[in-house]
Amino acid sequence: MLDGKRILLIVSGGIAAYKSLVLVRRLRESGVAVRAILTAGGAAFVTPLSLAALTEGKVYQDLFSLTDESEMGHIRLSREADLVVVAPATADLMAKMAAGLADDLASTALLATDKPVLIAPAMNIEMWSHAATQANVGLLARRGVLRVGPGAGELACGETGAGRMAEPEEIMLAIEAALMGRAAGDDRALIGKRAVVTSGPTWEPIDPVRYIANRSSGKQGHAIASALARHGAEVVLVTGPTHEPDPAHVSMRRIETAREMLDACMDALPADIAVCAAAVADWRVRAAASEKLKKDGDGPPALELAENPDILHRLATLENRRPPLVIGFAAETEHVVAHAREKRRRKGCDWILANDVSPGTDIFGGEHNTIHLVDERDRVEDWPPTDKVEVADRLARRIAGHFAAGA
Ligand code: C5P
Repeated sequence: MLDGKRILLIVSGGIAAYKSLVLVRRLRESGVAVRAILTAGGAAFVTPLSLAALTEGKVYQDLFSLTDESEMGHIRLSREADLVVVAPATADLMAKMAAGLADDLASTALLATDKPVLIAPAMNIEMWSHAATQANVGLLARRGVLRVGPGAGELACGETGAGRMAEPEEIMLAIEAALMGRAAGDDRALIGKRAVVTSGPTWEPIDPVRYIANRSSGKQGHAIASALARHGAEVVLVTGPTHEPDPAHVSMRRIETAREMLDACMDALPADIAVCAAAVADWRVRAAASEKLKKDGDGPPALELAENPDILHRLATLENRRPPLVIGFAAETEHVVAHAREKRRRKGCDWILANDVSPGTDIFGGEHNTIHLVDERDRVEDWPPTDKVEVADRLARRIAGHFAAGA
């Protein structure tokens, strides 16, 4: 898919710069020609030599270098690429981009380029959350700058939260999406289709500080949203709290409870495709306390539970606005296919993707998944064990095939 493409990679200063070396390797393995600009800050984290060795080319560092300019002017450098990728993108470099500053080679190339730009921000959580950074991020997005991540998790500075640069694999997917966004053809078979995807767990409050949750990572749902977008669909991703980075070219709707997820899905209709990959809590606490429950009462509180809406079932049984293709998941520990068939009927959906989650299969939070697809005529397809990104891609292709066949 990426073979023969040209990328200008700008590495600015951050501990995540080492991941950019992995990214360069992945890009080279995919046949991409990479030219690199290393900022002064970036050079404090990775050496020009490592970047040069991995890109198999010269690394550009200096705006006023006569040698650089005579070999390759900064204007040419910024234009002779299909895509400019900034990874890591520091708060400082994003601020320069937002303000239109051009005081070094990286910012000058970013101002001079006529190509799409993809940024992978990486910084401390306070810097990411700062109003100035958020305003810059918003401004850049409105100007059409693409972004992947950041994700949440443990940060190099020892704090926890949003700010981690997206992993090289996720950046690769965003690069594919960015490049394919400009290419026409079969790969974009879902152009004109609108999809709603649910992902992640839901959090059901017990009181203002406690909640009931589950171990869903959101990996599969996010990968599906990303794959559908890469195939050209307009995607709304309704997600519970996860550590996954936002997929590129997807509209995010962040919710916490099942009822909020249902409302967000309904608001996203009409849609041609609904994929329910979220691990929605079956129950919520009937009356969540408005104040923090105290330990020193009359022993532990009794929690009365109430049933949550079944979002998949609701979408699949809508009278007027039912999406033509509604897809659910079935996590089973035994009789996987038989239970999936039964679930398809009970939920009223078209397809069920069944997976075996018996102990030892490492599905929850893991990278892999073995799928059995039960289709609208109750036929079963056994997919080979593969990773969640490939499952998502296969599903997107299967959906495209379904619509191409005149569904
Ligand atoms: O009933 P069960 O949880 O096994 O069904 C799983 C499927 O139903 C998944 O696709 C899940 O996203 C969806 N689901 C839902 N709302 C619920 C429960 C499950 O959309 N309340």
